Amino acid sequence: MTSLIELNISDVEKISSFAKSILDFAKDTKLFLFYAPMGAGKTTLIKELCNQLGSKNHFSSPTYSIINEYEYPRGKIYHFDLYRLKSEEELLDLGIEEHLDSNNYCFFEWPEFVEGLISSSCVKIEITVNGNNRYLRASIN
Ligand SMILES: Nc1ncnc2c1ncn2[C@@H]1O[C@H](COP(=O)(O)OP(=O)(O)OP(=O)(O)O)[C@@H](O)[C@H]1O
Ligand SMILES: [Mg+2]
Repeated sequence: MTSLIELNISDVEKISSFAKSILDFAKDTKLFLFYAPMGAGKTTLIKELCNQLGSKNHFSSPTYSIINEYEYPRGKIYHFDLYRLKSEEELLDLGIEEHLDSNNYCFFEWPEFVEGLISSSCVKIEITVNGNNRYLRASIN
């Protein structure tokens, strides 16, 4: 069975409440795939999800990296930005399977190459932008 929530996330000042709703919805599922066009707000939401999990890390690093690791009181969070990735093989070379099996939170921007490697349930988040409006739809399979 698939469960679903839909949120209007156009007001970025309410981002902490959106992040809370998403974490409540996800319950124990820790794998999140973010599908959205460039600039839709994936990173902004992921940073807030980390804040809500109690992470005190700073997220201001301007350097692009494929994997960012953050700490939170109950463990680690991995934030992947796969935008520049060219193949699933590159992901395997990064040791992705270990991360997927680790039961840590994993947040993926541009998740197309990881899809085929996921066998457990995951939260899929789609953000669509229409003018100044942003809509989010999350589902768990
Ligand atoms: N929910 C929101 N409502 C309004 N503005 C937002 C929202 N989320 C993010 N923004 C604004 O949109 C811009 C892009 O946000 P962000 O970098 O999070 O997007 P992204 O999807 O991660 O982009 P990329 O595809 O480059 O990784 C930022 O200026 C941010 O302030
Ligand atoms: Mg981003």
